[in-house]
Amino acid sequence: MDKLRVGLCGLGTVGQGVLSLLQKNAEIISQRSGCVIEVVRVASRTEKPQVDLAAAIFSTRIDDLVEDDSVDVIVEAIGGSNAALSLFRSAISAKKHIITANKALIAEHGVELIPLAQDKTLFMGYEAAVAGGIPILKVLREGLAGNTVSKIAGIINGTSNFILTAMSQAGDDFKTALKEAQDLGYAEADPTFDIEGVDAAHKLTIMASLAFGVPMDFSSVYMEGISTISAEDIRYASDLGYRIKHLGICTLDDSGLSVRVHPALVPDGQMLANVEGVMNAVKIESDALGASMYMGPGAGGLPTASSIVGDLIDLARGNTRAVPLVNQIDRMDIANITSAYYLRIPAIDRPGVLAEVAQILSVHGISIEAVTQREHRQNDVPENDWVPVIIITDQVLEFTMNSALERIQELGDVVGDIARIRVESPGVL
Ligand code: HSE
Repeated sequence: MDKLRVGLCGLGTVGQGVLSLLQKNAEIISQRSGCVIEVVRVASRTEKPQVDLAAAIFSTRIDDLVEDDSVDVIVEAIGGSNAALSLFRSAISAKKHIITANKALIAEHGVELIPLAQDKTLFMGYEAAVAGGIPILKVLREGLAGNTVSKIAGIINGTSNFILTAMSQAGDDFKTALKEAQDLGYAEADPTFDIEGVDAAHKLTIMASLAFGVPMDFSSVYMEGISTISAEDIRYASDLGYRIKHLGICTLDDSGLSVRVHPALVPDGQMLANVEGVMNAVKIESDALGASMYMGPGAGGLPTASSIVGDLIDLARGNTRAVPLVNQIDRMDIANITSAYYLRIPAIDRPGVLAEVAQILSVHGISIEAVTQREHRQNDVPENDWVPVIIITDQVLEFTMNSALERIQELGDVVGDIARIRVESPGVL
């Protein structure tokens, strides 16, 4: 039987998951791949004597993996950008295949690295970079290869979803929910990438690229995170039959390709609205299949290892042909998307104020779907008592909504910043 010899870089949660899965399922993996997949070398900054390396040689020097002629494929599980980027470049020069979970690296440097690997007929596997254990790239690359995809919408950052779920179920404010996510080890010590949408934008860059055959272009993704979402917005949205989720969305239509991550109100009945905690889920709309949905753990040692080992088996089987990422499609500016909106307008509580707001929306051609006012707030001066006015609008061009909001914000009776959150359109799933 053939052998595939692996050099594993990194002994953190993911590296340990790969070792343990390859050991635990060695028999079925070799049966299914027709190959013995063996970790022959491990490199990690710190030695971890408690980890069973089997027969692998350990080293604290990453370059040892690249310099070892017996290594066929490098599994990169160190994350980050700098060390991983130089490892990728030198591994490609040394003609090693690469498998990684590093979404930042693929999303931001894939445009350089993927062609470099292809020129040398090397395999670059990055299934684990998107949605952890959900084999979503395989779905796009293989299962749906005969379909034209029109839309992807997904919950692809588990930390944000955990925070929004805690805010919704326990009524926590954002800071409390974030602290809980950190205490449980979900959010990083510096959680910026998770809560400001960067991690989701990395993953969406990769999915959009495979779905539409376009080069990876992280810089063109529109990004908003969840740090401005308040517990009261979650409550008001819930009263109106919606959950607030952080979504990665890409759509392709005659106006071009829109790739964006932002919070959105999702109708209660939609499957995405009911994906809770750290779970990830991706919904795809395509012409032949229609709407389909994929859900599972988006992080963690064994789920991520599941995707990495799947890539190793693909390599062993010779299933390594890459999707050409060569299409040039115009990217839509966020101002040109069409969406419904949730608005929370803090306004003085007296007759005529709602009419002023409605008048501005009407002048801009914006139709109101629902309106309600909540929780009268008292002021020291009673005539300055105010109330959050909640409005759900009909579909409108974002540019038009922005113009209307500028006018509403200027009204003397509007006493604070208006909150604005997009509303995801209803769909079949
Ligand atoms: N930090 C990511 C998340 C997991 O919270 O989903 C790894 O991509």
